[in-house]
Amino acid sequence: MIFNHKHLLGINQLTPEEIMTILDTAESFLEVSRREIKKVPTLRGRTIVNLFFEPSTRTRSSFELAAKRLSADILNFNLLASSVVKGESLKDTILNLEAMNIDALIVRHSASGAPHFISSFCKSHVINAGDGTHEHPTQALLDAFTLRQEKKHFSGLKIVIVGDLLHSRVARSNIILLRKLGAKVVGCGPPSLVPPEFKSLGMEINYNLDEAVERADAIMMLRLQLERQKKNFFPSLREYITHFSLTPQRFKRAKKEAIIMHPGPINRCVELSADLADSVHSVILKQVENGVAVRMAILYLLLGGKDRDATD
Ligand code: CP
Repeated sequence: MIFNHKHLLGINQLTPEEIMTILDTAESFLEVSRREIKKVPTLRGRTIVNLFFEPSTRTRSSFELAAKRLSADILNFNLLASSVVKGESLKDTILNLEAMNIDALIVRHSASGAPHFISSFCKSHVINAGDGTHEHPTQALLDAFTLRQEKKHFSGLKIVIVGDLLHSRVARSNIILLRKLGAKVVGCGPPSLVPPEFKSLGMEINYNLDEAVERADAIMMLRLQLERQKKNFFPSLREYITHFSLTPQRFKRAKKEAIIMHPGPINRCVELSADLADSVHSVILKQVENGVAVRMAILYLLLGGKDRDATD
């Protein structure tokens, strides 16, 4: 088994072999999650803290279920009821939680780099659950797991990522991961939300959605992150929908067996039509199911090995 890390901060730190180790490990945990008794004793006695400074449905819940299915104890840190609202600093918050002898911190924060900062001084394992507009590595790993489940391989696949790439940590992690595994990645959206600099990550750009989805194997729609947009990036929502919403007519241009992905939360009738979101081509809820298995694999690989010489 190839995996030798103390923290999971970003996809950049992983080799293709390590990514495959995570996906292979997640296969067995998916089987556990589908049993009537969804529990194994792997992390009994370990303590994990969910530390979310931003809202979350999928990531937070799936990490909680993942920890519980591995028999770990999990503490859901309640930000609004914590001393952070009295002005306690991030560093002091972490140091105080660590004083209670925890083993791992799962961190979501609006500041890019927050999990990296925490990992620079804390003793626990740190898992990045989404930092600002930077990375969301566990989302990219569950997306890769879902792609492999549906397509069996990555090399040569055409994956189109559509929407607000500029503010998307999901897009950045996915581009890095998919390029490492040999897929072709095409970004599409308004030029103000798909900056040319993204080409440096190995992504092609096509600002025309009809052209971009041509012969695609998978289309990954992204949520418009209006809460992170400090200015107007496109003239109106109506115009955005006209040019960048995935409709059944547009989807016909992709391969017959193409799949539709979305990290959630979805805005029905904005990023994609409601019919497509619920269609047989959509794997959106499979992504959610796979998220628990992939996060169980990550917790197991980071915390489970007794004799591992973890380096980063
Ligand atoms: N995909 C994702 O990160 O969803 P949540 O914000 O609900 O965790």
